[in-house]
Amino acid sequence: MDIENIKKQFEEDLEKANTKEDLASLKVKYQGKKSEIYIALRSLGDLEEGLRKSRGAELNKLRNNVGYSIRAKENAISETKREAKIDYTEPGRKFELGHTHPITQIYEELFEIGKSLGFSIAEGPEIETDWYSFEALNIPKNHPARDFADTFYISEEVNLRPHTSNVQIRYMENHKPPIRIIAYGRTYRKDSDVTHTPMFHQLEGLFVDDRVTFADLKGVLTAFAQGIFGKDRKVRFRPHHFPFTEPSAEVDVSCGLCGGKGCRSCKYSGWLEILGAGMVHPNVLKNSGIDPKKYQGFAFGMGIERIAMLKYEIDDLRLFYDNDLRFLEQF
Ligand code: PHE
Repeated sequence: MDIENIKKQFEEDLEKANTKEDLASLKVKYQGKKSEIYIALRSLGDLEEGLRKSRGAELNKLRNNVGYSIRAKENAISETKREAKIDYTEPGRKFELGHTHPITQIYEELFEIGKSLGFSIAEGPEIETDWYSFEALNIPKNHPARDFADTFYISEEVNLRPHTSNVQIRYMENHKPPIRIIAYGRTYRKDSDVTHTPMFHQLEGLFVDDRVTFADLKGVLTAFAQGIFGKDRKVRFRPHHFPFTEPSAEVDVSCGLCGGKGCRSCKYSGWLEILGAGMVHPNVLKNSGIDPKKYQGFAFGMGIERIAMLKYEIDDLRLFYDNDLRFLEQF
């Protein structure tokens, strides 16, 4: 039997097949147990070796080609059927546009405020050494101040940074005053409840020059706080302690819900804590290669999730990381 003939016949038959039923009978005719191709393949064993090989190869090629062509035609037929069913009067499908995450939105607002005050943006590593996370920031080993953060350690010397203050040191090592940066990024602490996640975000500010005062710090932080929460909000500084700043302060913004009168949201104090700050400790300058006799500066650090929770009045921080669109789309 002539392979060329089978091939030609198949192509003609395929051309004429227009329905699924046509294709079904084509399958029987060319792929079934009684098909010429199948019979020819089975009788290959009767041939002498040379002929068996060449004919076997040709037949196999034809068989594959038949299978492929039938499947292609099947697809083409179901495609035309689907098109025929399109109802052009149906309402269109909504095209969902994504947008920035609320945490990113807060960052972008803070960057804008920072840039308007002359700060540029800096970054540093999340996997950090003991020196940059602690030691250089005036927190020696075995110092009780190490308790201030429950740090994830990779080894004794390497940790996941518990704050963005590492960027202060790294930046001062490589730049001369005047220095005016905001650093941002992920930070890590062993904390997990409604207001803490083990990974969270911070924004750090650093301003070093030869005439920087606490009054400058107050002015800058008032601009940040009012830029985020609104011009009508008041800002207050409370004495605090950080090893890397002296003097140090915690900064509160007046409660937006009660206007400072006191309500459940601010635990009846009228104030909400938003960040930590202070004048850079002379040891920190020294550790970064800057002469504390010539220069001084201020630094501040805030948790972005906390700012977002206060700004949007959200009481469960974990909502930010559940990826529930019903929540995220509200921003
Ligand atoms: N690093 C401090 C923290 O994580 C915040 C801070 C930064 C305080 C800079 C003062 C100055 O809590």
